[in-house]
Amino acid sequence: MQKIGIIGGGAIGGVLAQECATRKLAREVAFIDPAPIPNSDDPPERQEVMQKQSIAGGKTLDICEGLPIIGSDVKFSWSKDYSALKGADLVINTAGVPRKARPDGTFPSREELLAVNLKITKMVAAGIKEQCPDAIIISVANPLDAIVYTLSKMLDPPKGKLMGMAGALDSTRYRYFVAEAANVSVENVNALVLGGHGPTMVPVRSSCQIAGLPVESFIDADQLDAIEDRTRKAGGEIVGLLGIGSAFSSTAWAALEMAEAIIFDKRKIIASCAFLTGQYGIDGLFVGVPTILGKNGIEQVLEIDLTEAEQAALKKSADAVRGTCDEVDEMLKTL
Ligand code: 2OP
Repeated sequence: MQKIGIIGGGAIGGVLAQECATRKLAREVAFIDPAPIPNSDDPPERQEVMQKQSIAGGKTLDICEGLPIIGSDVKFSWSKDYSALKGADLVINTAGVPRKARPDGTFPSREELLAVNLKITKMVAAGIKEQCPDAIIISVANPLDAIVYTLSKMLDPPKGKLMGMAGALDSTRYRYFVAEAANVSVENVNALVLGGHGPTMVPVRSSCQIAGLPVESFIDADQLDAIEDRTRKAGGEIVGLLGIGSAFSSTAWAALEMAEAIIFDKRKIIASCAFLTGQYGIDGLFVGVPTILGKNGIEQVLEIDLTEAEQAALKKSADAVRGTCDEVDEMLKTL
């Protein structure tokens, strides 16, 4: 691949940039973040200092100066506006504020980030439209499904070229907890988590296997219930522990699992937030489902067998996503 664009210089963006360098995923990597943004109330000298600062610039230079050590000739560029994104073939969008623990230890839902992250997404969409309208887009910002829906409304790309990263992260969490409980290698566990990226997500027990065998032959039903509940709440568990933000290493690796499937045309089956046109009884909505990812992005949405309970849970989750997308429609009227 010629060029990958990373939007958002926060913790996830930082891991993405490092990994793009070490894995040599493209000839060029562009890193975009407007921060720090001077405050118009600050004294002019302070504003001048902040105008010269750049989180994307600092992280990029830091990585570049280490490239001789890791033997990587990836060409990095950065910008505070969207100019460095020009001509990117693949964009990973992480732009937005993450969930943070409040002083009392509680934390917001992903949906509570909607108002502020919608404004940021509007700028992201404008930047992509101007600089790389044909790029494949993997969006990571929260609330995940609603931000993907917003990008779709603003960019109207071919549906297979826009997807959200949620199922890859939720599935790796489910796999990890299963491997830990069964005391086997994480490599032995296959699992899918479908639906929206929130408390209604659906860990699919009927397709969860350890070395090709049903998970129930290793772990009893009560323990699996607890694991699936923990999976649904796993993002919040990390927000509560970290105190300063949300998960970033596993999040970036999950986005890279999708990116590598596309870059190397692997046709890898990964749960992605994909546009549905009637599959699973869901129409006109981006929701997490199993997809085949290859050089064109989402090559195919797979309709797998689900139990009746799993089907009902997926419908409930899609209804929750639709509710947030309705809120997006309302908010966009005044944005
Ligand atoms: C999570 O689930 C950041 O939404 C992401 O941790």
